[in-house]
Amino acid sequence: MKTFYIETFGCQMNAHDSEKVVGTLLQKGYTQVQQPGDAELVLYNTCSIRDKAEQKVFNRLQQFKRDAGKGKIFGVIGCVAQQEGDRIFERAPHVSLVAGSASYTRLPEMLVQLEAGNRRVTGLSLDVNETFDTPFTRRDNPHRAYITIIEGCDKACAYCVVPFTRGPERSRTGESVMREARSLAELGYTEIQLLGQNVNSYRDPSPAGWDFARLIANTGTIAGIRRVRFTTSHPRDFVKEIIDAIDENPVLCNHVHLPVQSGSSSVLARMQRQYSRDQYMRRIEWMKNAKREIAITTDIIVGFPGETEADFRETVRLAEEVEYDSMFIFKYSKRPNTPALQYQDQVPEEEKTARLMHLQERQRAIQMRRNGRYVGHCEEVHVEGFNMATGQWIGRTAQNKTLNFHDPELPAPREAATRVGRYLNVLVTRAGPNSLAGERHTA
Ligand code: SAH
Ligand code: SF4
Ligand code: F3S
Repeated sequence: MKTFYIETFGCQMNAHDSEKVVGTLLQKGYTQVQQPGDAELVLYNTCSIRDKAEQKVFNRLQQFKRDAGKGKIFGVIGCVAQQEGDRIFERAPHVSLVAGSASYTRLPEMLVQLEAGNRRVTGLSLDVNETFDTPFTRRDNPHRAYITIIEGCDKACAYCVVPFTRGPERSRTGESVMREARSLAELGYTEIQLLGQNVNSYRDPSPAGWDFARLIANTGTIAGIRRVRFTTSHPRDFVKEIIDAIDENPVLCNHVHLPVQSGSSSVLARMQRQYSRDQYMRRIEWMKNAKREIAITTDIIVGFPGETEADFRETVRLAEEVEYDSMFIFKYSKRPNTPALQYQDQVPEEEKTARLMHLQERQRAIQMRRNGRYVGHCEEVHVEGFNMATGQWIGRTAQNKTLNFHDPELPAPREAATRVGRYLNVLVTRAGPNSLAGERHTA
């Protein structure tokens, strides 16, 4: 019996890659185990986006060696694998496989090499024009399914490793996305989440030539699919037709994650984001004018090289103006291969921390205010689980807000399995900055 263990870091694309890798391994006769010590093959799917990621990977690899013991096969996959390449064999000689996501279609072949005793197996070419599509995906969630529609990134943001770790942009055909979505609906999935580093840069390579707005509109018509989400949208390629599609079909969730990174046009230019503050705000305006209220969320980088106090104030002002429903704030961190690594005027660490904390505090007040508006309103949630500690069900609204609720008819989790995945109406009775709370509404 061949056994494997896998540990995954990073974004949703990476999480979904692992689901596809797991499916591929199961199909090849492997069995998944929950402890590295029980596995013959230990895989580590890595992320390189921030914070000395490579060092953390090497530390974890050492720990794996200690915990898992001798005689195992270790593989590093994902973004740090692509970034560090052969150097991983030098720094961690117990590793036998190093492969980036652009090589996963070759996984079966790489497994054969490992099984044959090859201790230096690599998949590091970025010269690809195919995507990793497999019918064997083993999804973790039985109700909500990820579907990657576009891989790689053709932008060149000055701070970002992704173009180096995931290679050039390549889209799947619209038909193959539709086929996968339909088969998920047949399996009982009701929610799909379309994924891409720049999901809205999608362009169907087949003669049909669907753009992203057309693709989401089409997935929204599949019988059985009640919610379609997508992430992450890039502002530059965010066109009005996307909002029109959301307006036309309530199956397309009224939530858009649109990372702005900075509110200062001069910082945006140095980041090579390919849009100005005004262009970004025009897209926000489209969303604010949509028929249904659209929840808007974002990512911000504070302390990008050369960011002045005045630049930062523009970011704070933009956040106040947009009133985001949620925001991920990151301190700029230097990454290998990226242009910003060479930029002179780095912002001191204490200053980055101060800006992060200041923005977090302002954003918390905004979220408190925004979430407060839901009190007294009824929201439909997709039930995700039961929290034993609080005795509450966990639900998610179409706007991607967590709504925890009591159900007087079903106070105990006895029937959790039958309840999770259902859609229920919940009356919101309380609001916090990060979630809502309420009672099941049965009337
Ligand atoms: N493709 C998406 C972002 C993917 S990376 C986009 O362009 O919007 C996710 C987030 O990580 C980014 O939005 C950015 O805010 C953050 N990030 C990326 N590189 C970073 C770096 N070097 N330092 C700090 N944050 C970074
Ligand atoms: Fe990175 Fe920019 Fe590509 Fe997003 S668009 S993945 S931030 S290079
Ligand atoms: Fe990390 Fe790679 Fe995703 S760097 S954020 S796992 S694309």
